[in-house]
Amino acid sequence: MKSHQSGENARPYEPEKNPAIRRLTAGAIKRRKGKSIFPIATAYDAPFGQFVEAAGIDVILVGDSVGNVVLGFDETTPVTLESMIYHARAVDRGTQRAHIMADMPFGSYQVSNEDALRSAIRLVKEGGACSVKLEGGRDEAERIRAITGAGIPVVGHIGVTPQTAGLGPGFKMRTHRDRLIDDARSVEAAGAYAIVLEVVDYEISREISEMLSIPTIGIGSGPHCDAQVLVLHDILGMYPHSPSFAKRYAEMGTLATEALKRYAQEVRDAVFPARSTALEAHLRERMP
Ligand code: KIV
Repeated sequence: MKSHQSGENARPYEPEKNPAIRRLTAGAIKRRKGKSIFPIATAYDAPFGQFVEAAGIDVILVGDSVGNVVLGFDETTPVTLESMIYHARAVDRGTQRAHIMADMPFGSYQVSNEDALRSAIRLVKEGGACSVKLEGGRDEAERIRAITGAGIPVVGHIGVTPQTAGLGPGFKMRTHRDRLIDDARSVEAAGAYAIVLEVVDYEISREISEMLSIPTIGIGSGPHCDAQVLVLHDILGMYPHSPSFAKRYAEMGTLATEALKRYAQEVRDAVFPARSTALEAHLRERMP
């Protein structure tokens, strides 16, 4: 067996336990282009990361949508780099092989290439991210180049860009073909390995998907993209304000409220906890 060390204390080479190589890589995701369409879901903590992975979804986005669906903000703009690192780290702990793509939050990359690179490095080193995603097209190409130049894979994000949408352009479908194509080409040329198209005209999305050699990841942009991404809380019905393009595959918010109501009622009615000598004996045995 191969070993990294020599001598008596040499540990066996265990690729499965080496976090640097156990996860799906950006390169492997890039090579999916033109093969089958693949799903991506967001996750923000260990148990849901585990559920996503158990569902066979091997690319997890730790999105700054955490601001809306977990942290109670109305938008993603206030999300901090520290929050993103915290949530990425939790997903990292809860998963084994999935690729963890982490969002660079607003303010963590716009000021300078140095800032952007520093933030990306923190997401990888402290958050366990395998790649980072940032919003913007042609105007952010320089940042993408700086980060990929340091060996960190980057995903671009064009169309509706929620970090700044509330400051002006809004959330309406993006239909400016020439601008979108220019943005997509700039992101690819800067070295991104994939690109999110958010609420982009379906035909323009198709055109961009055919034109680029990197996978397009659609959200609200129709069926022609190479991958689709949805926010976990929309998929599971845990967020009351899902966008119209999302599909809710469960109503877990309703389920949770029903379960909590039953628990509360059982406590009020003195039904829970039930009298059980067996349980009491078991608990007694576990005491130190
Ligand atoms: O933050 C997020 O979840 C995203 C997706 C909507 C693409 O960026």
